[in-house]
Amino acid sequence: MKPVILDVDTGIDDALAIAYALNSPEIKIIGLTTCFGNGPVEYTTRNTLVVLEQLGKSVPVYSGADKPLSRPPKKFPTHVHGEDGLGNRVEKPPVREAESEGAVDYIINQVKQRPHEITIIAVGPLTNLALAVQKEPEIVSLVKEVVIMGGAVFVGGNTTPYSEANIFADPHAAECVFSSGLPVTIVGLDVTMKTLLPNAILADWRAAGREVSDFFADITSFYIQAYETFHPGIGGCALHDPLAVGVVIDPSFVKKETWNVKVVLEGEEMGRTVALSEGEQKIQICTQVEADRFLNHFLDRLF
Ligand code: BDR
Ligand code: CA
Repeated sequence: MKPVILDVDTGIDDALAIAYALNSPEIKIIGLTTCFGNGPVEYTTRNTLVVLEQLGKSVPVYSGADKPLSRPPKKFPTHVHGEDGLGNRVEKPPVREAESEGAVDYIINQVKQRPHEITIIAVGPLTNLALAVQKEPEIVSLVKEVVIMGGAVFVGGNTTPYSEANIFADPHAAECVFSSGLPVTIVGLDVTMKTLLPNAILADWRAAGREVSDFFADITSFYIQAYETFHPGIGGCALHDPLAVGVVIDPSFVKKETWNVKVVLEGEEMGRTVALSEGEQKIQICTQVEADRFLNHFLDRLF
């Protein structure tokens, strides 16, 4: 069982990724770290605890970065994830609280205590990971693997024509992580826009008549309605963050290419992830996905 730290900005597809990860025996989520992104970090931390409560799980949660490294914070995507970050479905505060240790120190301490063992899956802005590398560069050679949901390398963006939301939220953090020497796999829009959850599935979740499946049907319905406004007729939503978890569970879901990747840090193309043929070729970019096989696996595991 691979020990995994899951770094989230919960967020509706983050919630789906958490459920998938916690119900997959191949990996063990030892801690969840939170970042600003789909809402302020106070919301994403609370939402993570709310999701865990729905799932009946008590994994520790460590609160992290509240702002990007250098760029001014961008507006939170309430039109995609709701005012509360979970489709306006947060009805009461969670019973549990986040741990007193912060996300950055937690990442550093776990990686140092378990050299070459820890996989980090990061599905929000890369700020926590960048801060950890800046504070303790030694961790770069001690992390087993980093799999991120972020970027749009050979396709267009979803926040600007060039940039994917997680990278756009903190491009300097992404550049820091990609140039650090960490063994990074990019699960970007190149593949995540091919893994669509069909709207029709929500009827099955509701038919199950369980509180947890109703909760996930409600939040996912909000997300699908947002998708329909950007992509009329799409009939579902992209499983961005769950696919990053899927790639750790079963790397054969995707095909990868190795490139040098740079992030555009200013101007109209800020946040663009560019694959370069010069320079050190170390970043694995997912370029193809077996979408149906992944979707079936995700659905079998979700609740
Ligand atoms: C990414 O941005 C966030 O809104 C989602 O949670 C996902 O991590 C998709 O671009
Ligand atoms: Ca996310």
